[in-house]
Amino acid sequence: TGKFTYDPGFMSTAACRSTITYIDGDKGELLYRGYPIEQLAVNCDFLETCYLLLKGELPNATQKSEFVNKVTRHTMVHEQMSRFFQGFRRDAHPMAVLVGTVGALSAFYHDSLDINNPEHREISAIRLIAKLPTLVAMAYKYTVGQPFVYPRNDLSYTANFMRMMFATPCEEYKVNDVLVRAMDRIFILHADHEQNASTSTVRLAGSSGANPFACIASGIACLWGPAHGGANEACLEMLEDIQAQGGVAKIGEFIAKVKDKNSSVKLMGFGHRVYKNYDPRAKLMRETCHEVLGELGLQDDPLFKLAMALEKIALEDDYFVSRKLYPNVDFYSGIVQRAIGIPTELFTAIFALARTVGWIAQWNEMISDPEQKIGRPRQLFTGETQRDVKPLHQR
Ligand code: CMC
Repeated sequence: TGKFTYDPGFMSTAACRSTITYIDGDKGELLYRGYPIEQLAVNCDFLETCYLLLKGELPNATQKSEFVNKVTRHTMVHEQMSRFFQGFRRDAHPMAVLVGTVGALSAFYHDSLDINNPEHREISAIRLIAKLPTLVAMAYKYTVGQPFVYPRNDLSYTANFMRMMFATPCEEYKVNDVLVRAMDRIFILHADHEQNASTSTVRLAGSSGANPFACIASGIACLWGPAHGGANEACLEMLEDIQAQGGVAKIGEFIAKVKDKNSSVKLMGFGHRVYKNYDPRAKLMRETCHEVLGELGLQDDPLFKLAMALEKIALEDDYFVSRKLYPNVDFYSGIVQRAIGIPTELFTAIFALARTVGWIAQWNEMISDPEQKIGRPRQLFTGETQRDVKPLHQR
């Protein structure tokens, strides 16, 4: 009724114009600034991808080293931030910690409030990209009761992150290039994905003129949900569950539950709002899974075998075929991260780390757009029409 189109879940509403990421869901195609994800994953590292997303072009060697230096200079967080962590329960979920600490960055960098100054926007972007690995690693160290590990700027972005995660005062972290490359690929594959729920949240929060740290904190909050970034955690838990009940032999039973109209069980890591074909990121992730398990001598990893068997059975099943449900990026990323030694509760925080560049690129694009308006959806009102208030004794 009325003048507004009812479109719950934004199934057919384009809320912005964007030049950053292109997805062809029917073909299973993903391009960052025109470059296929398959080529970026093989030829570029994460910081080159960040440069591309932020600036629109891949950097040349000089531009890359300038950008890397800039990011590297900002990897530390203010020492007061370590005390901020002490306010969280020691078993706090890393995403709860991340929502709080990233939001708190706005209290440290007052220049971020001046969103109309492009230089201030740029320094906020650099700070966010540089500090997220430090904050994610701190969130992890805090929950396991180990001392925080400070960034080491002679390491690459991703090797530094892995060291902050795994080094202890008793044992230095030995950089393993295959594992660092795998983590870097996880970052590249998660860097942006056009107007998904968390990115739309960042844009909506930013449309009011809120500062970038607050906007990214809102994106992290949205990402946390199991239908979005929380799916990788949920997917690994699902695989562990099936494994505990008997593994490959129990797939049939599990699939029957998923197909049962009266059950709410979903095959996590399957299906996507936009991809109605194989998610190109899932293919790359499966490849990385092989490499990482091979490197670690875990080729016979039962969860990987289970995942491949589950994928095969689902792809042949009419329920999934008719609904065009294919594996998405989360189907294999949990197995890779688990093999690297990342605990399940941290998966979504790592997704947030990687997606931060996408959020900030999208936010920046929005702020720079002359057509930008405050985001203000309308509604179809279905409640009571006007009526009179009775005094309390008459109700
Ligand atoms: N398992 C079983 N059935 C499914 C699944 C699934 N994973 N996904 C969709 N369906 C069914 C759904 O029940 C519906 O069936 P019917 O037509 O009989 O009612 C049909 O497929 C269409 O699904 P939908 O829920 O209308 O699709 P959507 O676009 O609203 O949802 C989704 C997309 C990603 C939320 C959903 O596929 C899902 O919950 N998947 C599992 C969670 C997941 O893996 N999420 C990660 C997405 S990729 C990373 C990211 O973006 O964060």
